[in-house]
Amino acid sequence: MQLDDKKDRDIFDMFDQESPIATEMRRLYSNIQTNPSNNSIGGLMVTSANRGEGKSTVASHLALTVARFKEKKSLIIDADLRKPRIHQIFNVARNPGLTECLEDNMDPLKVVKDTKIDNLKVIPSGRLVKSPSHLFEKERLRDIFDKLKFYYDIVIVDSPPVIPVSDPMLLSGAVDKVVMVVLAGKTPQNVAKRARDILLDADANIIGVVVNNLSEVLPYYYDYKYYGYEHDLENQ
Ligand SMILES: Nc1ncnc2c1ncn2[C@@H]1O[C@H](COP(=O)(O)OP(=O)(O)OP(=O)(O)O)[C@@H](O)[C@H]1O
Ligand SMILES: [Mg+2]
Repeated sequence: MQLDDKKDRDIFDMFDQESPIATEMRRLYSNIQTNPSNNSIGGLMVTSANRGEGKSTVASHLALTVARFKEKKSLIIDADLRKPRIHQIFNVARNPGLTECLEDNMDPLKVVKDTKIDNLKVIPSGRLVKSPSHLFEKERLRDIFDKLKFYYDIVIVDSPPVIPVSDPMLLSGAVDKVVMVVLAGKTPQNVAKRARDILLDADANIIGVVVNNLSEVLPYYYDYKYYGYEHDLENQ
């Protein structure tokens, strides 16, 4: 795996309290606090209808926002065992992780990885397996998440997409809340609705939709990187 390609700017450097995405994440955080006096949010799954709509991005920035600006103990779990990305985003080892908890009965607390930020921990996907849905047994998942919820104020679960894969349906029964990401101008309304219905059929507690707007946020990120680069050049 080539992590080096992305070494220039990791999520921690990129994160800016004033950026539109950070502002959105703070807004999302206040929305998911059903009861602001209750410190614990519990287990929150981030999913979407299809691939590439921004699930891992939203999940990661939310975890970072909660840890850094709300000073809460935040844990992000990579439950996308087909296309895991959280270990790359936070630059931690991929193994052992969720697979080892599910398949080998490892203690979830033993697979928690540290990040640069004290309050932010990661459980990566773990080793890759051929058919991950066999691992997603509701009771076992619930045991794992419940144990973790005891130690963390928020447990964010990054998941695969709903339409092509049944994993999010199985996961949604083991978390307290679900947030759906919709890619502005890209996710067709009927597809988003179908994903929502699949989740509702599985009794998911969908508490909101995040509209991921690439055209508004991407240029900002590009500017940021661009100016950062210019600045480096000037200093040489
Ligand atoms: N708001 C955004 N601003 C800038 N880049 C974004 C934004 N949302 C997503 N991206 C980029 O788009 C790509 C896909 O995003 P991401 O990996 O979060 O989607 P995903 O839904 O988790 O995809 P997958 O279904 O493959 O897991 C990534 O390269 C990510 O960095
Ligand atoms: Mg993803």
